[in-house]
Amino acid sequence: MPWRRPRRREERAYESRESPEERLERASEAEEERDTVELAALDGASIVEAATGEPEADGSAPSLVIDASRIDEARAARDAARPEEGVDLSVEVARGLRLRNPVLAASGTFGQGTEYAELIDVSRLGAVVNKGTTRNPRPGNPQYRIAETPAGILNSIGLENPGAEEVARTYGPRWAKLGVPVVVNVAGYSVDDYVFVVETMLGTPAVVAFELNVSCPNVKGGMLFGCDPLLAAEVTRAVKQVTDLPVIVKLTPNAPDVVAVARAVEEAGADGLTAINTVLGMRIDVARRRPILGTGSGGLSGPAIRPIALHLTYQVAQAVSIPVIGAGGVTSARDALEFLMAGASAVQVGTATFADPEAPLRVVEGLAAYVRAQGLASIRELIGAALPARGAPLAE
Ligand SMILES: Cc1cc2nc3c(=O)[nH]c(=O)nc-3n(C[C@H](O)[C@H](O)[C@H](O)COP(=O)(O)O)c2cc1C
Repeated sequence: MPWRRPRRREERAYESRESPEERLERASEAEEERDTVELAALDGASIVEAATGEPEADGSAPSLVIDASRIDEARAARDAARPEEGVDLSVEVARGLRLRNPVLAASGTFGQGTEYAELIDVSRLGAVVNKGTTRNPRPGNPQYRIAETPAGILNSIGLENPGAEEVARTYGPRWAKLGVPVVVNVAGYSVDDYVFVVETMLGTPAVVAFELNVSCPNVKGGMLFGCDPLLAAEVTRAVKQVTDLPVIVKLTPNAPDVVAVARAVEEAGADGLTAINTVLGMRIDVARRRPILGTGSGGLSGPAIRPIALHLTYQVAQAVSIPVIGAGGVTSARDALEFLMAGASAVQVGTATFADPEAPLRVVEGLAAYVRAQGLASIRELIGAALPARGAPLAE
């Protein structure tokens, strides 16, 4: 038994004043802090970037940086292999938008794409969806903004972003060099807000489509755009009038009738759909007897929501004839295959990249391996493979 320094009396006295719940809380906070620091050290990001994929609010340099040369060597070897080369993974993810493969980085989990370009070869992705972009700069919500849950995380980032003009000015030139198409995720609180962002971002290098985040409350009445088929259709129609680029509407699972919203936005001219955004959820800090998140509730993401996302993808894919992009808990190629077979033309990988920045690339590689192993001519043969035969009644 190795010698251990005897514990100091004051420490015991301090600990004994804590209730078991407080001790648990303290231990779990220390654990969370350690996890985040480890993640940050691993991928060279600051703690804030590790948790949210966003640069720190004050724009300061990353606080924890590791020796990049070690990453560079490993990356160069892996990228040289490119196991997906020679396999037809190309898909149409929205009307008029064909991508080299069906794997996109999800909005809000990949910063502006440029941050992750220092860690992985983003040009191997189908596309990158940038952080939700609003008309004006937004500082985001009060802390805490992230809480862990079984098989997922809750977030209430609050659309922190520098505003459309700044995003176009700063990131346009950087996106031009990334070698990957960029989909701009658009958020707003009125129809005019959405139109403003789209008009501002038009002509920005590398931008190939817009994804409308309709999980925002409309200032007139407070209802989420994505919860009401009429409101969702109105914003879609308005945006379609100002751009020729494909417009993808990102469905919220919190809508009473997601299929009705999907049909309404297709009718209004949407070129594609993303299913789904986060699911409303909450955690309570037992020691403080308060919600953990600064906003009370937040959006649940990660594997915890995958069955919900799959179910909705399956329902929506049968109800519309525009492409559907599946999102929600995709962490592996197997998960992606489930979405494709449920009728999705592509998938987005979000929360998984927090634990493993290479997760989206692993999905690309795994899909390529599957297509090869199954002797398929292209990945497109799998899209909708699990759907009931066309013409059959909607499956429950
Ligand atoms: C920290 C965080 C920030 C997000 N920010 C946005 C956003 O700005 N716009 C948006 O449409 N979706 C946003 N999302 C939702 C994701 O794009 C995605 O739809 C959702 O997390 C489900 O996918 P996942 O389980 O793979 O993360 C965010 C998710 C997380 C976890």
